[in-house]
Amino acid sequence: PAEPHVIGIETSCDECAVAIVAGRPGKARILSNVVLSQIDLHQAYGGVVPEIAARAHGETIDRVTREALAGAGVDLGAVTHVAATAGPGLLGGLLVGATFGRALAAAADRPFVPVNHLEAHVLSPRLSDGVAFPYCVALLSGGHAQFVAALEPGVYRRLGGTIDDAAGEAFDKTAKLLGLGYPGGPAVEAAAREGDPKRYAFPTPLARREGCDLSFAGLKTAVRLAAEAAAPLTDRDVADICASFQDAVARLLVLKSARALEAFRAIAPAPTALVAVGGVAANGTLRAALAEVAARDGLPFVAPPLSLCGDNGAMIAYTAIERVAAGLPAGDPRVRSRWPLD
Ligand code: KG4
Ligand code: ZN
Repeated sequence: PAEPHVIGIETSCDECAVAIVAGRPGKARILSNVVLSQIDLHQAYGGVVPEIAARAHGETIDRVTREALAGAGVDLGAVTHVAATAGPGLLGGLLVGATFGRALAAAADRPFVPVNHLEAHVLSPRLSDGVAFPYCVALLSGGHAQFVAALEPGVYRRLGGTIDDAAGEAFDKTAKLLGLGYPGGPAVEAAAREGDPKRYAFPTPLARREGCDLSFAGLKTAVRLAAEAAAPLTDRDVADICASFQDAVARLLVLKSARALEAFRAIAPAPTALVAVGGVAANGTLRAALAEVAARDGLPFVAPPLSLCGDNGAMIAYTAIERVAAGLPAGDPRVRSRWPLD
């Protein structure tokens, strides 16, 4: 039979994204990967406004889909499956993407595959690098911070995770406090490049607690206190606070990812790699810190390229390729704001 050609639709947050991916598990090709960011629409509000996001997805989803098909050089008839994110995420946007996907599937008479956004992030290193199961994942995004054991397609174990803020949220809140705008991650990383990471000794949250749970709320408070003490802030102060904050997050992730690998081995003896995924995995300092943990453990470190770290349709399409090949059921097509991996 012809190899699967899957169209993947992602509208769970503030990227309207559609991609075409062809091939098999571990050996798939991205034929197109169109991402339309809504950042300019939300910037003035300092964060994503769900109602505005949903309306914008509704206005752009057909155009982005046409671009993805044209970019791949295929028409709808060549598509074998239609996949769309069904959760977790913002309900309005999810409804737009999933309903549009079901309509496409009906029009083309192809199966519709609802996809878990977290599973898609977790599987992305198999799309980018063909990483073999089982592997250990640090999932660090705007809405999440967790360690996951990826054991086989559809089988994931949460090893630990945040008890308060998500990783990206911590960057976004730090940026907001320092007047750096939204989204905060790239701005904090850029400012940190000019700063002194040793100026502030920010805490390592949950350092003494066993296991690999994470916490960022205490760091946020420490950043706020430092900013208040240094006010009015110079560029130097902002750079030093960003560098010290990023350094503290790196120390936290080093400690907890080493513990995550321990927890992993209690479930499955031989992880093939330590992997970082999600928008925060775009951060160079955090990548370097996690790469060191992996090296100490004798494991390769893998982080997908930046185009696959943030939200995108390719990881959604690829997840359908994995699930279909493994014979996993398509599951409930209804969208949901919460949808844990295990
Ligand atoms: O995975 P993602 O695109 O969306 C979600 O599914 O949440 O992640 C977005 C998050 C935002 O919080 C953004 O500030 C953060 O990723 N981010 C970064 C960097 N680039 C994006 N955080 C730290 N350093 C970066 N370079
Ligand atoms: Zn995401």
